Amino acid sequence: MNIVLLGSGTGSNAKAILEKQTQGLLGKARVTGIITDNPTARILTLGDSYHVPAIHIPSGPFKTKLTPEVEQTYVDHIRAWSADLVVLAGFMRVVKETLLNAFPGKIINLHPSLLPKYPGLHSVQRAFDAGEKECGCTVHYVNAVIDGGDIISQSRVRIEKEDTFTTLMEKVHAAEHTLLPEAIRKLSLEFR
Ligand code: GAR
Repeated sequence: MNIVLLGSGTGSNAKAILEKQTQGLLGKARVTGIITDNPTARILTLGDSYHVPAIHIPSGPFKTKLTPEVEQTYVDHIRAWSADLVVLAGFMRVVKETLLNAFPGKIINLHPSLLPKYPGLHSVQRAFDAGEKECGCTVHYVNAVIDGGDIISQSRVRIEKEDTFTTLMEKVHAAEHTLLPEAIRKLSLEFR
């Protein structure tokens, strides 16, 4: 099962996926490409380290979404890399019709909250500020509703009294680095 990763920043989740692949722990999944909307994103450097093509596609005039033309460029690359699954690993753009229609039911996203709680931006901060006892992360299918598609798996993180936002963020990231590769591994074993 070929997967293409989309990310906008650090790429720690993309790295976790590539590490599992290197260790033979990603089931039948194999990363065939990485795309970013951010020319300075660290995720781009993973391409050389893991011998995977990694490219930046200029994102156009909008801050939170791509134009249909730019999305079509994504589609062309994703198809060229024969993707069976598209994984949003820290991709900070809302995915619109052109991508959704090209890969129906084949785009998954990682979100740093226990959805349906705290969709959208700054989820960990909002859970922390609200005095929640737990937060976590979710892998879900992507549809036209932001962070609203069917949930594939979740990981819970307890918020302790001594946690700061920084320590909590570290715990959520650690949970993500296990949850997302494991979700991909399981999907790859069901893939035919
Ligand atoms: C992750 O925490 C991921 O859950 C979040 O961005 C971070 C990317 O980190 N994604 C979203 O908020 C999507 N709405 P990374 O670049 O180190 O993988």
